[in-house]
Amino acid sequence: MANKAQLILEGKTYEFPITEGTEGEKGIEIGDLLEKTGAVTLDFGYKNTGATKSAITFLDGDKGILRYRGYSIEELAAKSTFLEVAYLLIFGELPMKDHLQKFSDDIRQHTMVHEDIKKILDGFPSTSHPMGVLASLFCAQTAFYPEAMDPNRSAEGVYLSIVRALAKMPTFAAWAYKNAMGHPVNYPDNKLDYCSRFLKMLYALPAEDYHVDPVVADALDKLLILHADHEQNCSTSTVRIVGSSKASIYSSISAGINALWGPLHGGANQEVILMLEEIRKDGGDTEKWINKAKDKNSGFRLMGFGHRVYKNFDPRAKIIKKAADDVLKKLGVNDPVLEIASKLEEVALRDSYFIERKLYPNVDFYSGIIYRALGIPVDMFTVMFAMGRLPGWIAQWKEMRENKEPIGRPRQIYVGQKLRSYVPIEKR
Ligand code: CMC
Repeated sequence: MANKAQLILEGKTYEFPITEGTEGEKGIEIGDLLEKTGAVTLDFGYKNTGATKSAITFLDGDKGILRYRGYSIEELAAKSTFLEVAYLLIFGELPMKDHLQKFSDDIRQHTMVHEDIKKILDGFPSTSHPMGVLASLFCAQTAFYPEAMDPNRSAEGVYLSIVRALAKMPTFAAWAYKNAMGHPVNYPDNKLDYCSRFLKMLYALPAEDYHVDPVVADALDKLLILHADHEQNCSTSTVRIVGSSKASIYSSISAGINALWGPLHGGANQEVILMLEEIRKDGGDTEKWINKAKDKNSGFRLMGFGHRVYKNFDPRAKIIKKAADDVLKKLGVNDPVLEIASKLEEVALRDSYFIERKLYPNVDFYSGIIYRALGIPVDMFTVMFAMGRLPGWIAQWKEMRENKEPIGRPRQIYVGQKLRSYVPIEKR
């Protein structure tokens, strides 16, 4: 029975081939399950379902391993840059010097957005959350570049869409923030690198001679690398499933931004800081809040704890914790919530509730603290996550397209009413 799985259903045995990944992961191929047996699988939240074969990111949740295209996240975070990692994720290999130069130049050339985008932006009240604005502006790109909607677009055309997406993301992100502040927008300064360009658009005030602090730009670059891809998570699966209908790259990514926004996914980094602030205002009693998280009736979860796949530790959280210490020291910031975060982590890690459920700090537990030290406002934290995740979404969209994957369309088990007759309203 080597490389075959057997299923016994109503006394009949069926066989299914087993596929093995390069790191030894096994998957039972059930592509013809319905046809052979008349049954489907039922897997809420797709906890056990592989939706694709991918060569982009490898993740071992038990061992706390995360690799992009075979390179460890620890090494990339220490030695690489965000644009180099973006190239690696999207095109499969680390770039040669001239390839990276061309890629950066191409991105630099497309940082401006159409002036009419400002009219769209003006339509949003300043109460708009920047994530909603970002998703809308991203989708609006289809109006300015309708050729991106061509499902048979040439490789050169797809490259142009990719470059435009990466180039305009920092401009959109900074403009979404300026809109929330009710301030005029800044235009991209193309003399600067990717992160510095974004920071200047975010912070510079009119007529101000603004200089980007390299400590802040470097820290942001590292954070973006750590968020750049995470295989088939909620937003990435959304990008792939939307893209599988042959929707454009911009609509697919816009859908990913919306999926990321939720508090259980990318929205958690914002929730962590709000939670830490609340604990501080409440007197800093971490035990009390741990007990609240354990009480199922409280409806409260310890934000920044737990992960669908990491059941030992989140390797990104380890890097971020150290980076948070470094950045705070370098910038001379003394954030009182850092102490609360450390205490919360310490208490949770020796509490049986968290140990039994394998709940450890995730990437978002400390990222908010760094963002705050960098002066990034809370409402922008998830936007930062989206900026980091963009190359991953692009790489996954491109892979799905190149592999000619079929339209995503899960099945269900219907549990509603059986056939019944319509009753006129006066007789109900
Ligand atoms: N605080 C308290 N209890 C928790 C938490 C938490 N943060 N996370 C999970 N649990 C409990 C949960 O109540 C359940 O308990 P029981 O078995 O008694 O019913 C058990 O742990 C398993 O939880 P689950 O919801 O079935 O696990 P999941 O794999 O479906 O959810 C998660 C993973 C990340 C959504 C969840 O851990 C969570 O809500 N964490 C807080 C939000 C957060 O930090 N999200 C950011 C994730 S990292 C960024 C990203 O990649 O998106």
